[in-house]
Amino acid sequence: MTNPVTLSVKDHIGIIIIDNPPINALGIDVRKGLISCIDEADANADVKAVIIHANGRTFPPGADITEFGKPPLEPHLVATCSHVENCSKPVIAALHGTVLGGGFEITLSAHFRIAMPKTKFGLPEVGLGILPGASGTQRVPRITGAAAALDMMISGKPFNAKKALGLGLIDKITDNENILNAAIEYAQDIISNNTPINRVCDRTDGFADADKYAAEIAATRAQLDKKGGLFCHYAIVDCVETAAKLPFNKGLIYERDKIMACMRTDEHAALVHVFFAERKSPKPPEAKRAKPLDIAELGIIGGGTMGAGIAVAALNSGLNVTMVERDEDSIKRGIKNVEKVYLRNIEKGRMNADQMAAVMARFSPTTNYNDLSQVDMVIEAVFERMDVKKAVFTELDKVLKPGAILASNTSYLNVNELAALTKRPAEVIGLHFFSPANIMRLLEIVVPDNVSDQTVSTAFAFAKKLGKVAVRAGVCDGFIGNRILGKYAQAATNMMEDGASPYRMDKVIRGFGYPIGVYQMFDLAGGDIGWDTRKRLAATRDPAERYVHIDDRICENGWFGQKTGRGYYIYENGARIGTEDPEILAIIDKERKIAGITPHDFSDEEIMETYMAAMINEAANVLHEGIALRPSDIDVTFIYGYGFPRHKGGPMQYADTIGLDKVLATIERLSQDDANFWVASPLLKQLVADGKNFASLNNV
Ligand SMILES: NC(=O)c1ccc[n+]([C@@H]2O[C@H](COP(=O)([O-])OP(=O)(O)OC[C@H]3O[C@@H](n4cnc5c(N)ncnc54)[C@H](O)[C@@H]3O)[C@@H](O)[C@H]2O)c1
Repeated sequence: MTNPVTLSVKDHIGIIIIDNPPINALGIDVRKGLISCIDEADANADVKAVIIHANGRTFPPGADITEFGKPPLEPHLVATCSHVENCSKPVIAALHGTVLGGGFEITLSAHFRIAMPKTKFGLPEVGLGILPGASGTQRVPRITGAAAALDMMISGKPFNAKKALGLGLIDKITDNENILNAAIEYAQDIISNNTPINRVCDRTDGFADADKYAAEIAATRAQLDKKGGLFCHYAIVDCVETAAKLPFNKGLIYERDKIMACMRTDEHAALVHVFFAERKSPKPPEAKRAKPLDIAELGIIGGGTMGAGIAVAALNSGLNVTMVERDEDSIKRGIKNVEKVYLRNIEKGRMNADQMAAVMARFSPTTNYNDLSQVDMVIEAVFERMDVKKAVFTELDKVLKPGAILASNTSYLNVNELAALTKRPAEVIGLHFFSPANIMRLLEIVVPDNVSDQTVSTAFAFAKKLGKVAVRAGVCDGFIGNRILGKYAQAATNMMEDGASPYRMDKVIRGFGYPIGVYQMFDLAGGDIGWDTRKRLAATRDPAERYVHIDDRICENGWFGQKTGRGYYIYENGARIGTEDPEILAIIDKERKIAGITPHDFSDEEIMETYMAAMINEAANVLHEGIALRPSDIDVTFIYGYGFPRHKGGPMQYADTIGLDKVLATIERLSQDDANFWVASPLLKQLVADGKNFASLNNV
């Protein structure tokens, strides 16, 4: 391998170039190379200043992910940083691209920092449940004080060069389009002015107002207590507090201990799992076998909630969109639904009228199916009824050009049946977006039996173009997400009839880390959706199956949730957060009596254990039947589509964390009271018998 870090000397300036494609990650060879180039420059009497620059599109944006989870290799990044800082010649970091994590820590170890205007900075380690452990927690507060340091490390959010300059984290922004030339000029100034080196490790200005510093630390801790902070959040606060108390080198040891403690948490394991899971899910086997087609012209059938949301997602990604509705009134509503999103953007100052006009120029609303003759793909988003969808598919098959893809946004229906209707089953696929489709990132790509590799590959490329996180799903009622949701929602409803109030359950579910409870989610999605599904499945329902009528009674009142102002909760005057409703409790009470059930108490642990057992068990079935390719795809589905707390890694990772034997024991205990509902998944039993976990099935 060629050396990824090189030194050249020109006009008394040592120029260190990092060249480690594709992104200049700070792997072992880059760390070694940096140290040896700094040593060489330091020892060269001809060198009066040193520049660190990176080729390609960015300065190092952080660690090398291929080193994750392996024993750390020396030299560690923190030693590399100290080496840079201890150079006796002025070291200038020449910055462009995304200077994140370890790349930012290297930057702060240089003595001077110059950046291009579009450079982004940040310390995103918190996203992996750790902290900036190569001196970030000790250097940043020396410059910025506590509040800004805590905010950037706890949020993990990137910020721009202007903000970095304002905070004193860089010294200069250059307009020069060649960052290396700008850095050379800066170095020449530093040499000719004999500008003294001001090492960050020696600075204490960030601690100047000790009372303010302590107050900011206390306020952050209080906020974390209120919101429910993770271990890594508190560890960051501890490190920043310590920076002001201990000498720099002792602070580094403290930081090291804290990052090691973070690495031992379940949260860290879960977040690393998700990091890899979301990179794996968009890679189905079909993509290896066939190249995707480019989709530039998109057709959408239906301008309701989903059709409009999908149209916005596609328009925002630069596609031309033709929307077909069934009549003039409906297309007017469809246009309004799309415009509403952009008008809101204008109201919020996110775009101006000209920009909206430019987007809308790529949007062609119509009531004529013939206008779709040139599109590359159509997504159908009409009512969730097989007869309506079949009529639409038959029509589309006639008007679409050969090779055009025909996709359905159905939430539950059988895509094989739709494909069989057409003369092009190889080009029929399911694209299950989540609501609101322009915001929610999950896209389940539903793969019917006779679809071609190329259509699947194209669907995944299309998802990427739209910025979606795609997951491959097989055909079954509800695919991955809604099928599993159906089971744990039923477990919750059974608990409700047995004595747990929906409000109590929602509180427990939020306590687990979900942003909202399951009944709040139903109110958001609309109770009528579940009601339609129950009615659709009524004829085929096993009479022995327990059926709780509470949801039907609520729907019969026309209480469909937020959109009707009332569901499980009451939403006064369009409020988004509902209040508890005593009438709901009365309905539940009445239904319990009709069913002859004497309510009993549930502990918080019991509620969560039951809820999760139902989710994990059905997820195991989904995996066993090949509906999901790998456990990690199910985790991605639940994190991106159903609010599962990311730091718990998704239901499968969570199951591995608590132990599959424990999950199985819960199911077997619950089945003593309801053997019909609680049937342990054969896969779960097999894994327990073999002493394996779900993670053992992830390498697909
Ligand atoms: N709402 C959700 O949360 C959600 C989420 C994922 C998927 N889906 C699925 O998306 C689809 C649409 O759901 P929605 O919530 O947008 O429904 P919606 O009722 O808001 O919109 C459906 C639209 O389709 C139009 N339409 C009906 N028949 C048509 C035809 N023959 N030609 C052209 N247009 C026609 C209707 O006029 C209406 O505007 C359904 O299959 C649903 O299951 C919905």
